[in-house]
Order: sequence, then structure tokens, then C-alpha cells
Amino acid sequence: MPRTMALDPLFTAVDSAAFTDRHLANLAAGTLAAVRVPGFLDSAACRAAVAASGRLPTADYDPARVPTPIVRFGPALNDYLGQDGDLDADRYWADAEAARATWHRAGMRPDPVAVSLARLGSAWGAAVTPATIGGRAVFGGTLREINSGAPIHYDDVNREAPQLFDQEVVAQLAFNVWVAVPPTGGQTTVWRHRWEPVDERHRRSYGYRPETVQHCQHVSLTPALGDGLLFNPGNVHAVRPNPGGRRIAFAYFLGLTTTGRLIAWS
Ligand SMILES: [Fe+2]
Repeated sequence: MPRTMALDPLFTAVDSAAFTDRHLANLAAGTLAAVRVPGFLDSAACRAAVAASGRLPTADYDPARVPTPIVRFGPALNDYLGQDGDLDADRYWADAEAARATWHRAGMRPDPVAVSLARLGSAWGAAVTPATIGGRAVFGGTLREINSGAPIHYDDVNREAPQLFDQEVVAQLAFNVWVAVPPTGGQTTVWRHRWEPVDERHRRSYGYRPETVQHCQHVSLTPALGDGLLFNPGNVHAVRPNPGGRRIAFAYFLGLTTTGRLIAWS
């Protein structure tokens, strides 16, 4: 019998009016696929964020191929890790400090990162704090425009950079909130599959070939404006390209620590 015939009833995408502590616990446990809060940000907040993003530095782009600059703001730790998971500390902290100053100057009101962290903290019952390295708070809350999709991959700080943070992370969640969405495409798919050593057979330079998840149960979510989404990025996931429009999201990771706290990083 194909494995897709036997479905895990707990691996679903739930729509909810708000994120709750139960959602966070079930995502951390790895049973629930995803929780989406439609209209997590209202359209005015999304417009304000996109307008302010125009005041942020943009990634290099080729005007002949892409008509508008691609929004890419804030350092992601992954981009500063060597093969062995060591952090290129000088470069990271310089970029993190610069991003903090630029963020402040852009004057984004409301600040979707601050708003979402506050709401997740109240759902959990304790404030979300930044992950720290040597006592120093890392940058949390990147803004990314992704129109060409993202390959099948997983995110797991305990594999990518064990002992990077002062805190011990027992489960990782990914948060996204969309402030611009394309008319079609751009779906996020999460498969009921965690990385296994055998998956390396299907490895590409970045990500994995579709064979990795061929018979795995999955959920696919089409982003709508202002939607907030939480999922466990230890489950492999991918983003479909959008042929037109702009897909812009604020994104960060949450970690549940051994002391029951939530920490955040990008
Ligand atoms: Fe990811």
C-alpha cells in the first residue's frame, strides 16, 4: 500500500484566530503540521511595512530580468556559518549592528517583528527573548522577498550549528508573516518528513530532490496578505515560485529551550 494511503490525522494545517500555547507545544512536539492566523497583520500594517521596506537597502538585482529591487534585509545566521558550524563572528556582528541601526532609521510602524514577538510571548505566557551568543543578543526578524521559490530543505540549528547559542534548544519553529503576496503561486509546502541520513542520496548543492518526499504526507498553504504562519522547520519544506507579483515576508525562528522559554533568531 502506498504510504500516502495511511494518513497521520494529527499532521494538519490549522487555521486559527490567534496562536495559542497549545499550538506552540504541538508544533514543537512535531505532531501538528502548521498553524495559520489569517489577517495576523491588517492591510494597513502590511502597506506600511512594504513602504518602509523601500527605505531599506536592497539586494543586488538585474533590472533587465527583475523590474523592481528585491527586498532582502537583515542577516541570517545561516549565511555566516562555516562547514563546521562555526560562526564568522566579526562579519556577523558587524552586519547585525548595522541592520539594527538601519531598521531603527526605517521607522516601521507598526513593527511586524515586535508585534508578532509580543503576541507569541503572551500566548506562551513568557516574553520571547533573543537567542544569545556569549551573552550577546543575535539579530531576529529578517525581511525577505522570495519570488523564485525555495528548494526542499529543513532548518535545524542543532544540526547546522550545535552549541551556537548560550541556550539549549529542544525544538525549533519557523514564523512567517506576509506583507505582500503574489496573485498566484508562492505556496509553502511542509512534508511529514524529518531529515534522515539516507536523504543525502538526493542532495543538491542546496536542498534535496523531490524523491526525498515522494510518498510523504504534506500540507500546502497559499499565503494571503497579512497571514501569520508557524510550522516546525525540522519537517522538510519548500516554497513554490510565483510567476508574477511580490512575495515578501518577515521571518524568524523560535526555539523552545530546556528551561521552557522561547528564544528568537534569524
Ligand atoms: Fe526553511
